[in-house]
Amino acid sequence: MTNANSEQPLQPEDVYAEYRELRASRPVSRDDDGPWRVALYEDVRHVMKTHATFSSEVSQAVQEDGSARVSMLFSDPPVHSRLRDLVSRAFTPRQVSAQADAIKARCEQLVTRLAADDTGDLIKGLAAPLPVGVIATMLGVEDGDFDTFKRWSDVIFGNIGEILMATPSEEAVAASEEMNAYFLERIAALRTSPRSHLLSDLVHVETDEGRLTDAELLMFCALLLIAGNETTTSLIVGATRVFHEQPETFDWLKKSPEMVPGFLEETLRYHSPFKMSIRRALHDVELRGQKISEGDLILPLIASANRDERVFERASEFVFDRNPNPHLAFGLGIHSCLGASLARLEAKIAVTSMLEHLDGISISDFNPAELDGFGAPASIPVSIRRAA
Ligand code: HEM
Repeated sequence: MTNANSEQPLQPEDVYAEYRELRASRPVSRDDDGPWRVALYEDVRHVMKTHATFSSEVSQAVQEDGSARVSMLFSDPPVHSRLRDLVSRAFTPRQVSAQADAIKARCEQLVTRLAADDTGDLIKGLAAPLPVGVIATMLGVEDGDFDTFKRWSDVIFGNIGEILMATPSEEAVAASEEMNAYFLERIAALRTSPRSHLLSDLVHVETDEGRLTDAELLMFCALLLIAGNETTTSLIVGATRVFHEQPETFDWLKKSPEMVPGFLEETLRYHSPFKMSIRRALHDVELRGQKISEGDLILPLIASANRDERVFERASEFVFDRNPNPHLAFGLGIHSCLGASLARLEAKIAVTSMLEHLDGISISDFNPAELDGFGAPASIPVSIRRAA
């Protein structure tokens, strides 16, 4: 990371050094038979937009299972179009903005508790419970079931690679089965007695293409956990990391809170929570002179694209008022993030609440390499300066 006013890196960042090297000399490359890494902004955009060539059905096992168990994120049209159309009808801007008051109340509670002491844990105190609580509310999880829900969420996310490749651990299978049984009961009850939350709306949504089946509803519950939790946690961690490395940013935002949305866009670019996606080539194709064969896996490196010097001026600097900021943190094309406005709302409320209640926050034992890893760490001890 560099200071806003200097070209000097503040911390070594191995993953970003590697991405820089890939962009400079091996923009489309792979090790042995591993997946292709695509590092340039233009190419990442191309791969993520061109679903007729670069399929999201990455797991052979998923393909064999047929549509019922296919997650929307890992499916192509026409299965994807049907699911996205149905789900978008319930996942509306109204559903999202209806959550603002509850998110504010939750942030007030969490940040006040965090501010009660000089030290605390960013993950346990704010960055994890906020998104899990939001998703639990959307799915109608009752208060008493919250801890169990969080455990399922942690196990499923922790095993996502294996789940995707159809080799989940026993622990992940058990967590999925427990969660499915829980939600199947809920879904049956919601069919006869609708409630006012997203899962209930999804149960009742109907188009010419029919309704979502139980299996599809279960798929969506798991997808929200996978897609919406850890990513939002990472965005809050990214913002706090900027406050740690550039404390003056905290002071600027305190004076000008209207700049929080732009600051968060730069955080999404600079500390992209979803570092890479995955696709499979549907036929032989050439990308920047490299021959990619049918069936090969491809990793569009979103975090590298977001630091591409060809697109972003001062790409390796955090420029808190960058404008325009065409980052790819939420993806693009048919799979572009369905929860982007919700994630932005949650992070905006969380950061605003921090600005109101604190005079500063810093990360103890700051370890950039750990923060740049896959997913957020389980714990991030912080020192807190309470607002006077
Ligand atoms: C900062 C937070 C978030 C980031 C950076 C993020 C990023 C992304 C990205 C990059 C994709 C596209 C992946 C691909 O094309 O392979 C995606 C898809 C998706 N996201 Fe998010 N996401 C975030 C938060 C959320 C939240 C809060 C929710 C819901 C509660 C959510 C729900 C989804 C869903 C359902 C999809 C699949 C869309 C589809 O396949 O059509 N995301 N997200």
